[in-house]
Amino acid sequence: MAVGKRVGTAMILSIESSCDDSSIAITEIATKKLIYHKKISQELEHSVYGGVVPELASRLHAEALPRILAECEPWFDKLKAVAVTNEPGLGVTLIEGVTMAKALSISLNVPIIPINHLKGHIYSLYIEQEAVLPLTVLLVSGGHTQLIEVESYSVMHTVATTMDDSYGESFDKVAKMMSLGYPGGPLIENIAMDGDVSRFAFTVPLWQSPLIAFSYSGLKNQVRLAVEANEVSAYPHIAAAFQKTATEHLIQKLKKYFKTNPPKRFAIVGGASANLYLRESVTKILAAYKAELFLSELKYCSDNAAMIGRAALEAYSLGEVKSHNDIPINPRCKL
Ligand code: KG4
Ligand code: ZN
Repeated sequence: MAVGKRVGTAMILSIESSCDDSSIAITEIATKKLIYHKKISQELEHSVYGGVVPELASRLHAEALPRILAECEPWFDKLKAVAVTNEPGLGVTLIEGVTMAKALSISLNVPIIPINHLKGHIYSLYIEQEAVLPLTVLLVSGGHTQLIEVESYSVMHTVATTMDDSYGESFDKVAKMMSLGYPGGPLIENIAMDGDVSRFAFTVPLWQSPLIAFSYSGLKNQVRLAVEANEVSAYPHIAAAFQKTATEHLIQKLKKYFKTNPPKRFAIVGGASANLYLRESVTKILAAYKAELFLSELKYCSDNAAMIGRAALEAYSLGEVKSHNDIPINPRCKL
């Protein structure tokens, strides 16, 4: 291979397998261009169980990741590093991506860039773009509900987090109660459109508490009682009232936080950031601060390897590369 061929075309291959999406991307280092991106989602397989079954997810990754990787072979000689999500996530699924990254690292003789999945979601805002920082971020996914002050790739402070369930997870649980399938977010958002939001009233979690923190377990139980006491025809109304209350909880806590920390730039990221009711509600409160709202493209909200590759560009420029012997898997790690 001619050395000149590598100039300007050095690339990073990134792998994501932290939950139920098998995804690989290739990103050009100099231009941030996304050269290749593919994701095989397992939603259908988990749908019958109303949630992700970790062992099934692991087996499906073991089938899907090699199939995607085979399509990446034409770029193998351009790779400078392999990036992989190594935290947080399901231990049995993280290991699928990390094992593949280690095998590639050894066979192609390139280092590994371990990536925190939450940083990946934050950098989903900047696919093929420069990062605009500092930024206040609301991360809402199936595993997390966090308010984060992002100074830079290396300096991020979590200022509020959930005490129990996450925002996205609560949609999944409510969808399961209604036997709608998985993932619950889009399903609940969809049936809520046909619902009358005033037919049910749920108490907003922690509305009297001075804490800036989130909690969804109590709301989940209120909804469970309503589901059990009503006919299927009432589900759209219950879904609408649930979505309103779950979102109002986020908005109340954001307002409280903004009193002492007025936002200039604000972002919503993570799978549940696709929720239009949430996007509209946040847009309304930001108007008072004339703050700019940053959102990922819809295709990059849920888990994907493009965001892992984009985060890896930052890590690579900071020299955060490791050997294949030095990649721990941290299922419960935060930021
Ligand atoms: O970020 P993500 O793909 O995976 C995790 O890192 O957890 O987020 C998936 C979560 C699921 O809980 C899903 O129900 C939720 O995001 N979600 C939504 C919507 N779309 C996806 N929640 C509410 N409204 C939506 N439109
Ligand atoms: Zn995620």
